[in-house]
Formats: sequence, structure tokens, C-alpha cells
Amino acid sequence: MISDQMSDALNDQMNAELYSAYLYLSMAAYFASINLPGFANWMRVQRLEELTHAMKFYDYLIDSGARVRLKQIDTPPTEWGSPLEVAETVLAHERKVTGRIHKLVDLAIEEKDHATNAFLQWFVNEQVEEEASADAMVQSIRRIGDAPGGIFMLDREMGQRVFNPMPAGIHGGVG
Ligand code: FEO
Repeated sequence: MISDQMSDALNDQMNAELYSAYLYLSMAAYFASINLPGFANWMRVQRLEELTHAMKFYDYLIDSGARVRLKQIDTPPTEWGSPLEVAETVLAHERKVTGRIHKLVDLAIEEKDHATNAFLQWFVNEQVEEEASADAMVQSIRRIGDAPGGIFMLDREMGQRVFNPMPAGIHGGVG
């Protein structure tokens, strides 16, 4: 059984993961609007990853005997100035998420809630990857600079990304 405070904090994080999915879906729509379907694909895949993150919190709450409480999801921005601005926003956002996950771990330690701490370690590791892939996107866009056609070559690369559902635990995938 987890504490009420932990239950609230995990429900908030589930909401934050759903917001991430919403933010990346909005970015996918932005990229579609500027004819970069590969970037749009990358964002759509990222959105699916965020949904799996949200569902991990959902399932953990239920498995812990706590209530899932869905809340309103904030409206994400819809416009950005350039692909680089989007990538920088993703990186800043993922850094913020990492901070949130670390705060949850701090709370688990404070409450001597070993089960939740163990559950959260998956997210601690995942955030290292999330920041690395966002940073890679920022670096790639910076590298091509104003090279003619560079963004379209990168777009083709971004179009290769496919969604890999979570390795099966008891609860895999987005459902
Ligand atoms: Fe759910 Fe992008 O971290």
C-alpha cells in the first residue's frame, strides 16, 4: 500500500506523461504543417512512448491498491519558430521530467517506500535515454545548419523511427 501523498504524486506524474504525449502530438502536427513528415513521424512515435509511460503509472497505482485519478491535461503550444526550436523545447521538457522523477524518488526514500523506489528506477534510467535522444536531435539540426537540403535529409532519417512496444512485463504496451 502506498501513502496518500505518494498516490497523489504518482497521479500527477501520470498526468505529466499524458501532457508529454499531448505536447509531442502537437509537435507532430507542427512538423506535418511545414512538410517535414519524418520529424512528424519521430514525434508520433515519441507520443506513443509517453503513453506507455503514463500507463506504467496507471498500472502501478492499481497494483498498489491506490486509485487512478485522471485530471485535465493542459493545452500544449501549437507553433514553433523552427525545427531547432522544437528540438530545444523537447530537450528542456525532458530535463524537467527528469527533475520530476528524481523528486518522486526523493519522496519514496523519505517514506521508506522501497517498492515505489524500485518501480521508479525504470524511469530514472529511461530519462537518461530520453535526454540523450532529444540532445541528439538538437545536435543533428545544429550540425546541418543552413546546408541546402540538409533538413530534408535529416527528415528522411527521422522518418525511419518505429515504435517498439515495451518489453513485456505484466503490463506491456499502451493499452
Ligand atoms: Fe515520459 Fe519523455 O519521458
